[in-house]
Amino acid sequence: MAPWVLWRRLYGSQVRASRAPEAEEPLPDLPTIGHNGGPALDDVDGIDPSGHKVSLHLGEKFLALFERARHKAFFGGRGSAKSHSVATYLVIVSSQRNVRIVCCRQFQNSLRDSSKELIDQKIRSLGLLDQFSITEREIIHRKTGSRFTFIGLDRNPTAMKSLEGCDIAWVEEASSINRTSFEILIPTIRKPGSQIIWTWNPDKQDDPVDAYFRSEIKPPDSIIVRVGFEDNPWFFQTEMPNEMWFMQQGNHERYKHIWLGEYDTTFEGRIFTNVEFGYYDVPEYVAPRYGLDFGFGTDPSSIVKVYPDLDNGVIYVEREITGSVPLRQLPAAIDQVIESNGDWIVADSAQPGAIDHLRSVGYNITGAVKAQGSIKTGINWLKGFRIIISPECPNLTKEARLYTWQVDRRTKQVLSVPVDAHNHSWDAVRYATESLQTVAPGSRGAVKMSL
Ligand SMILES: Nc1ncnc2c1ncn2[C@@H]1O[C@H](COP(=O)(O)OP(=O)(O)O)[C@@H](O)[C@H]1O
Ligand SMILES: [Mg+2]
Repeated sequence: MAPWVLWRRLYGSQVRASRAPEAEEPLPDLPTIGHNGGPALDDVDGIDPSGHKVSLHLGEKFLALFERARHKAFFGGRGSAKSHSVATYLVIVSSQRNVRIVCCRQFQNSLRDSSKELIDQKIRSLGLLDQFSITEREIIHRKTGSRFTFIGLDRNPTAMKSLEGCDIAWVEEASSINRTSFEILIPTIRKPGSQIIWTWNPDKQDDPVDAYFRSEIKPPDSIIVRVGFEDNPWFFQTEMPNEMWFMQQGNHERYKHIWLGEYDTTFEGRIFTNVEFGYYDVPEYVAPRYGLDFGFGTDPSSIVKVYPDLDNGVIYVEREITGSVPLRQLPAAIDQVIESNGDWIVADSAQPGAIDHLRSVGYNITGAVKAQGSIKTGINWLKGFRIIISPECPNLTKEARLYTWQVDRRTKQVLSVPVDAHNHSWDAVRYATESLQTVAPGSRGAVKMSL
């Protein structure tokens, strides 16, 4: 696909898109003051305080930045010109009128982690350095009074205060914005006419920013644009194509995530990487076991039917019902999974009342022992098997991808602590197999012997 270059006259209302020069030809030097090869537009009043004329170039999709909307969301793979285009837009807007701009990200240990350097670089490359005052923490336009500040949402929730009067918030690397920050951010930016620009490389489907903009129902007044390296007219002038091709050959999954902007399905923090999907011919002598995890509040309850084929090293999860149902409807759900009322169900012992109730209506149900460390013991035990999940288990299938170890987001190191989410059906599988999990030496279940 041939890249398009947008020629836009700064301070003018005229926008022209023209075809980029052929691939072999270098793009013209970008951008310079005065007539730089862009269309000559002498009929536009110089709104620029310094009287400069600037032609600037942006990939065509980023023209949407100049439209009016509450949210402008740009997501896609590496090298799509997301960061550079937004920085260009912000520098332009700040020199046109008085705006307070807050550049935020989840983690910002120091200004070196912020977008300050990129904004600084854009001001220089647009030839507008004489119009700005760049201090250690801020960038200010001398004439319009526009001000850029740079904050990390993680360290300093009070920095969020600075968002209250802001006209434009740029949330960079928005896939790492956590739920707490996300939920504070949007209502805090409440000045009439204010806008939020989001840029990110997609990571996981359930990251708050993806859930917000990429679910079926879109938030109102939003421009949501998927971009790719083909939308970046400068891409083939960088070193990035080589890096991309190298990864495309060596690690195709990772290439799809990093460069094509697909969700990371090979996320190394996933707990169960030993999972396959499909049907399994269970040997006749293997009996099913049943596990039940009760839901609290909005959490769902989950009932699973598991065949532990220990001889062949297979755990087959054949059936599952998961949903948020009140206690009185649980029997109907359980009946869809078990074969007969005598089947033994091991349930979450945190809900003794619910267990008593189900027992009183005729189920053979007991609470899981849940010894100290049993979550890790159960996970480690399950990781020793081929786990096969049948197509009748949609929730477990989903949780196989989403149940993860905690990852230190700064160092990217995977910690040996499970994230307490997306684990409802997995908990049910652990309970179902609990009595089979060999007790670790020294733990509570060990038997003392005298010889
Ligand atoms: N407006 C621009 N002017 C000059 N180079 C650009 C511009 N936009 C993008 N580039 C080049 O493309 C590269 C990738 O752009 P970047 O904004 O970092 O992409 P993304 O944020 O989508 O990963 C930059 O490092 C730069 O070399
Ligand atoms: Mg970027």
